[in-house]
Amino acid sequence: MSWHNIGTIDNLVANSGVCALVNNQQVAIFYIPQNPTAVLAISNYDPIGKANVLSRGIIGSIDNKLVVASPLYKQHFCLETGECLEAEAIHLPVFNAKIEDGSVFISSEPKVTTAVA
Ligand code: FES
Repeated sequence: MSWHNIGTIDNLVANSGVCALVNNQQVAIFYIPQNPTAVLAISNYDPIGKANVLSRGIIGSIDNKLVVASPLYKQHFCLETGECLEAEAIHLPVFNAKIEDGSVFISSEPKVTTAVA
């Protein structure tokens, strides 16, 4: 797996999302300092609203799952699995993310996720 350096941690916004272009894919990157995995990354594309908007969604927690609510029709997408809580057939691509020496790295390809979380 190759990693894409998207900048330093100062480019992230705590408890919110930013968007970055990784390998020509728009990725929504969420920084949640209190979470064991502080940086989570999923596709920025909302397949229900059909727009690149998820980095601007509101982060929340539903049934112990960290989710982002789409700014469009408010569906919730799990930040760990990409699963849409309101439409089980929909799974967004999820990217590996890590912080090293203050820099943020996103995997250049999505993780291979299992169909059902
Ligand atoms: S360095 Fe940019 S996608 Fe790998």
